[in-house]
Amino acid sequence: MAVLNVNIDHVATIRQARLTDEPDPVWAAVQCELAGANGITVHLRQDRRHICDRDVAVLKETVACKFNLEMCMAEPIVKIAEKIRPDQVTLVPEKRAELTTEGGLDCVKNKKRLASVVKRLHKKGILVSTFIVPDEAQIAASTETGCDAVELHTGMYANAKTDRAIEKRLNDLRDGRDIAMASGLIVHAGHGLTYRNIKPVAMIEGLCEFNIGHSIISRAMFVGMRQAAEEMIGLIEIAEF
Ligand code: PXP
Repeated sequence: MAVLNVNIDHVATIRQARLTDEPDPVWAAVQCELAGANGITVHLRQDRRHICDRDVAVLKETVACKFNLEMCMAEPIVKIAEKIRPDQVTLVPEKRAELTTEGGLDCVKNKKRLASVVKRLHKKGILVSTFIVPDEAQIAASTETGCDAVELHTGMYANAKTDRAIEKRLNDLRDGRDIAMASGLIVHAGHGLTYRNIKPVAMIEGLCEFNIGHSIISRAMFVGMRQAAEEMIGLIEIAEF
């Protein structure tokens, strides 16, 4: 069955709006664990716009479920991952001006750097996943560089407006899943997923881990963190293949 990692970046976004110490993403992580989440995901961005070094260090000590660190391949960030040793690293592209991660990582163009980062993270016992568009060349580059998993970018599915466009994006995800699984990769998915659009994606057999943030944190404002996480876990669990 597919499982949920809750991305708690935006709890830190609210804190950073006032540069104060609340709300604490560490408290959110506890509530997500109590809800039955498989994991906690955070993105340590180079500009530290939400999650900070302190959060990553405290979460590493307190999260009992999977701790998934999203990050780019910039050297200072890779060094932090080597020191902190999260359970999993998801490598993403990063642009300073973007509101959120925009496209997938170009594993083909960055193959040499990717291979070196994967090797270093593996030395520390960290599982490595790449956040990619469901494209054959990107999957091949992830396999060839020794990655354990890929996270298929669901943003294009989430943004699709017509039934036809939605079905095309679901087919892209199914094709990506087939190629990745045939290459021996574990297949995750995420970005732009909500309570309203999760079902068809959760019904794709083989997508075994979802990373969802904005929609869960938005709902948590009104129903509480624990209930928001429980509701998303429920939707993932009832979706049948
Ligand atoms: N997966 C990756 C690789 C991401 O960069 C993000 C955004 O931080 C997410 C999943 C979660 O996206 P959303 O906040 O739209 O659920």
